Amino acid sequence: MNPVVEPLSWMLGTWLSDPPGAGTFSTLQPFQYLEEVYISHVGQPVLNFSFNAFHPDTRKPMHRECGFIRLKPDTNKVAFVSAQNTGIVEVEEGEVNGQELCITSHSIARISFAKEPHVEQITRKFRLNSEGKLEQTVSMATTTQPMTQHLHITYKKV
Ligand code: HEM
Repeated sequence: MNPVVEPLSWMLGTWLSDPPGAGTFSTLQPFQYLEEVYISHVGQPVLNFSFNAFHPDTRKPMHRECGFIRLKPDTNKVAFVSAQNTGIVEVEEGEVNGQELCITSHSIARISFAKEPHVEQITRKFRLNSEGKLEQTVSMATTTQPMTQHLHITYKKV
């Protein structure tokens, strides 16, 4: 592994939701989802990721995103670049502190025919909990709603 990304090594691996993720938002009925996560490296000073969500009953593919996580060498500054199947491409930046990564969107681009309401801001927190499970919490603000939690999920390593 490239030593630059060592502070993020706790994120590496193949992870599966356990229990199912919880989806919420002020405009939505609460929902559950399954998610497979792959976080890997190829020796570059960057991690590669893909998040693939599925319906818990039908296993129908739902939200998908993939991208890269970079660390500014010799700092705890992190950049997260993601392309999503909904037609969004976003850059988030933040900091890793121990086994916790907090990031906020710096720019969000979308295809011209993206579904409304549009997301205007995203924040995420990843952490490795005391049981060795990875957790992700995502909040967002849209053109109609203030910053509100959209997702919380815990993954076990498989
Ligand atoms: C709805 C954004 C990840 C499932 C939405 C909406 C937005 C959004 C803007 C519309 C909210 C409204 O109508 O007021 C995002 C962003 C994500 C993300 C930015 C990642 C950063 C996910 C994931 C799932 C998911 C991982 C898991 C399955 C849903 C569902 C709805 C929804 C079921 C309601 C139905 C629909 O509009 O398709 N999301 N989402 N989202 N999201 Fe997400």
